[in-house]
Amino acid sequence: MFEGINEQHGRALDDILKARRTVRAFSPKAPGKEDIEAVIRAGLIAPFGALAVAGKPDFRKVIVIPNSSPVIVTAANIMKNRAGHFAGELEKKIGLAPFVQNLKRVAQQGVPGVGNAPYYIIVGERKGTPPVAAQSISYCLHNMWLKATSLGIGFQLVSATAQMDSDPEFCKLLGLPCAEYALDGCALGYPAEGYQPPQVDYPDYDISVAWL
Ligand SMILES: Cc1cc2nc3c(=O)[nH]c(=O)nc-3n(C[C@H](O)[C@H](O)[C@H](O)COP(=O)(O)O)c2cc1C
Repeated sequence: MFEGINEQHGRALDDILKARRTVRAFSPKAPGKEDIEAVIRAGLIAPFGALAVAGKPDFRKVIVIPNSSPVIVTAANIMKNRAGHFAGELEKKIGLAPFVQNLKRVAQQGVPGVGNAPYYIIVGERKGTPPVAAQSISYCLHNMWLKATSLGIGFQLVSATAQMDSDPEFCKLLGLPCAEYALDGCALGYPAEGYQPPQVDYPDYDISVAWL
């Protein structure tokens, strides 16, 4: 096992791990289809909850919506409407909390990453027992994120996708049976010229880690 893996690979992986950032502004120049396929293939070899999806070869679905496709407009509108309804319901329960305010902004301006990046990609994972579909999608998306980084392609998670898994209109648009797949998504494209991600304070080793 691990034949062919050497120190050089380790250093390359460290470089990619450090270079990975969330990109929130994209260049209109779209990455080529081959690169997007390579990113998706990296996602397909991510770990998955094997027992939860045993006997279901169609357990992982990836749907690519390029910005040039008319489908992106429909998807963006469905998501905006959904955010509006959700905001209304939540406001009745908890008032104008920051999360509700954000939902209202999304309902007006749209979901970041859907319609303002060259690609919106949705990953679906068949739900099962134990209920680990969301975790499996995270591994898939993270593989895609690292592969995209290695190709110089920017990546933004589109978490609002997860709320859409039981929306009949959205699932029909994707060609998925309603509520059978957990969903999550991302936007892909080259970073906008001059884009610099904000400084982030990652957890400090000494504060976060305990060896017992
Ligand atoms: C579960 C999860 C959901 C996230 N959802 C979004 C999202 O919907 N949109 C977004 O722009 N960033 C999203 N992020 C990205 C985080 O804000 C980001 O990873 C964090 O601020 C650290 O910045 P970095 O990714 O540049 O290292 C999400 C991250 C995680 C782990």
